[in-house]
Formats: sequence, C-alpha cells, structure tokens
Amino acid sequence: MYSETSNPNNKPKDLPQRMQSTPSIEVVDLCQRVTDSSGVLDILSRVSFTVGTGEAVAITGSSGSGKSTLLGLMAGLDVPTSGSVHLLGHDLFSLDEEARAQLRARYVGFVFQAFHLLPNLTALENVMLPLELRGEPARAAAVSMLERVGLRDRLNHYPRTLSGGEQQRVSLARAFVQRPAILFADEPTGSLDEQNGRRVTDLMFGLHEEQGTSLVLVTHDPALADRCHRELRLSGGRLLAPAALE
Ligand SMILES: Nc1ncnc2c1ncn2[C@@H]1O[C@H](COP(=O)(O)OP(=O)(O)OP(=O)(O)O)[C@@H](O)[C@H]1O
Ligand SMILES: [Mg+2]
Repeated sequence: MYSETSNPNNKPKDLPQRMQSTPSIEVVDLCQRVTDSSGVLDILSRVSFTVGTGEAVAITGSSGSGKSTLLGLMAGLDVPTSGSVHLLGHDLFSLDEEARAQLRARYVGFVFQAFHLLPNLTALENVMLPLELRGEPARAAAVSMLERVGLRDRLNHYPRTLSGGEQQRVSLARAFVQRPAILFADEPTGSLDEQNGRRVTDLMFGLHEEQGTSLVLVTHDPALADRCHRELRLSGGRLLAPAALE
C-alpha cells in the first residue's frame, strides 16, 4: 500500500520551504465503506497524505475512483468509516456536526460538482450569503467577485435562469468571496469553455498566491493539474504511488 510518508522523493515542485513546514490538511488512513443490496463496497481504502499550507494539490482519477467522496470527507461534509482528517490542526471527526460546520464557515470554501446554489436566491444573494452568515459586509464584496468571474450583468438572475457554466461561476464566486484558508473544488472548470475555464483558474491561483490559500482541486483537466504543485491520483479508492503518474 502506498502512503506518502513511505516516499521521500515525493516533494512538491517549486514550493517555498516555509509553505511545506505547516500542514494545512492531514489525511490518515481514510476508509469509506458502504453496504448496499449488492454487498460491501470500499469507496476509499487507507488513503493518507498531507497538504502543506499554501500548497495546490490536484486530485485526479477516472470516474468512480472516489475523488468526490475524498473531497467531501476532507471538508467534513461526510463522516468516514475509519481514519482521520486534521484541518489546520483540528481533528475533524472528533468534533460534533455543529463544530465542524463552524470550522468550515470560518476557514473553508467548497465548490461542488453539482453547484448547490440556493434556488430562491439570486446570483448576488447566493454570493452574499456566506459573508452575511459571518456578520460581515456583503454586497460590495459579492458584486466585485461576481464581476471577476464575468457575471456583472447576471447579478439578479435566479439559478434556474443561468446556464450551467454561469451557475458554476456563481458557485466559484461564493467560495472565493469568503477568502478561505482552504479551497476545495470538485471539477471547478468542468462546465466551462476555454476562456471562462482560464478565467476561474486564474482566479483560483490568484487567490492562492495573494492569500496563501491551500487549494485541493479535483479535475480531469491535465492543464489545471499541471498548474498545481502536486498530483494525487486515485484508482479504485486507493492512492497511486507517484511513480504511476509518470
Ligand atoms: N452512498 C453511496 N452508496 C454506494 N455507493 C456510492 C455512494 N457514494 C458513492 N458511491 C460509489 O463510490 C464510487 C466513488 O464515487 P465518487 O463520487 O467519489 O467518484 P468520483 O471519482 O468523484 O467520480 P466522477 O469523476 O464521476 O465524479 C462510485 O463508484 C460511486 O458509485
Ligand atoms: Mg466526482
């Protein structure tokens, strides 16, 4: 079984030394097993790795390999069968659901594969919401972030009146407006054309560079994976050794 600690050569590329010293995320022996009518299915098997503060990591692998499951567990949206995740030193699964939600609200942005916009709120209101929940001024920051994703003239549209790519960009704006310490994104450029894909990629890496945000990106896009310091590839719920990526 591969574990990062067993491979001293798996150094992130071009990462300043200071960024490697403090792990932002530590995943240890994470397992997710589900049982349904056809029997037991191991969706994740003993997955271990760390993400340094300010590091950008791509999670790749074929459809069904466990990428979204892993991302959901790292963000504490779901609870694993066994194993642990530490976010900024906090042991996620020793906290109750409410404490996990508070930790997420404070430090984590999440861009879902399905965009999870609230249908009864406009684009602007969707992006304002996380700031309002924190009691912070929201409108100007939300407008500015929607402009940065190219949606200045869609502020008052409800999700059902936005295209898939526009919804994706609203969901990115909602994650970015919080200026999170950690950004998890599941196929963030999946429904975007090349121009908009580049725009949101530049935005993500801009945030990462300006604010030292750690990025964990699930992607099928080799160009996006290549902009990250490191790629972790899943196959059948297991992490492949770096040699398998060559
Ligand atoms: N609650 C569940 N019960 C049973 N099987 C599940 C459950 N959730 C996920 N799975 C299965 O676990 C596997 C991994 O799912 P996951 O969504 O993590 O894949 P993925 O790598 O994100 O795929 P994609 O690239 O298609 O988004 C899939 O085969 C899926 O069918
Ligand atoms: Mg997925």
